[in-house]
Amino acid sequence: MEAALLELKGVTKRFGGVAALNGVDISVTRGEILGMIGPNGAGKTTLLNCISGVYKPDAGEIRWQGMPIQGMRPHRVAKLGIGRTFQIVKPFGSMTVRENAAVGALFGSAETSLSVKQSFEQADRVLDLVGLRSKAGSLVTALTIPDRKRLEVARAVATQPKLLLLDEVMAGLNSVEVDEALEMVRAVHATGVTVVLIEHVMRVIVGVCTRAVVLDFGHVLAEGEPRVVLRDERVIQAYLGERYAKRLNADRGPDGE
Ligand SMILES: Nc1ncnc2c1ncn2[C@@H]1O[C@H](COP(=O)(O)OP(=O)(O)OP(=O)(O)O)[C@@H](O)[C@H]1O
Ligand SMILES: [Mg+2]
Repeated sequence: MEAALLELKGVTKRFGGVAALNGVDISVTRGEILGMIGPNGAGKTTLLNCISGVYKPDAGEIRWQGMPIQGMRPHRVAKLGIGRTFQIVKPFGSMTVRENAAVGALFGSAETSLSVKQSFEQADRVLDLVGLRSKAGSLVTALTIPDRKRLEVARAVATQPKLLLLDEVMAGLNSVEVDEALEMVRAVHATGVTVVLIEHVMRVIVGVCTRAVVLDFGHVLAEGEPRVVLRDERVIQAYLGERYAKRLNADRGPDGE
């Protein structure tokens, strides 16, 4: 079996007396799209924050291609090829869409730093990929919610990550917009990027993920093939609820909305 691209062992993060993560073991294989689900407060965002260097875990190990990276500063983690979005989007409001994407390229993981010209070229490629080319000259403040989410992905993709961590980039989108966002994730993945995505929309998890991990109270509750995981009794109890299970049993297929 191929060695893991990213491996977490016993990762624990406490806030005061609360263990947001409590001994989490997860490995991410090159080329997969791993879906991360679980109730509010389960520790999903905290996990991304530990991986991307925003938080230093209190215990455990995070290995990137075999190298321990826990406690490394965020800009160094980004340089290694781990890109991320934020659940609360943080674009530079006074800049255009194209400029925002170019900033990602300028501070990205490229071996040799890109020039400003190269960064704008990279920004244009990424805006094409996420379907934002026509808005390149718009100010961020003029964007709709789905376009802001696309821009958040564009900024992360522009850093040329090997692994992309997406935190609820489809929250608040309508069903057509979710379909478009799914296409965007597929397009980015097709360029060779491994993806970990956090989502509450089950249609996304079954639609695009090759594997799913369920977090609950800072623990891994279940993991495996998405459709199998969503039928797991413990996952239904802790997260999805009986109403969802009944719908599943009625065999109308999961849509999670
Ligand atoms: N900076 C912080 N300071 C104190 N507590 C925190 C902090 N960040 C997270 N927590 C707590 O850690 C737990 C996990 O939070 P986290 O944001 O990781 O959950 P989540 O799974 O991303 O939830 P959601 O689905 O609502 O985004 C929660 O109890 C939260 O209140
Ligand atoms: Mg979160």
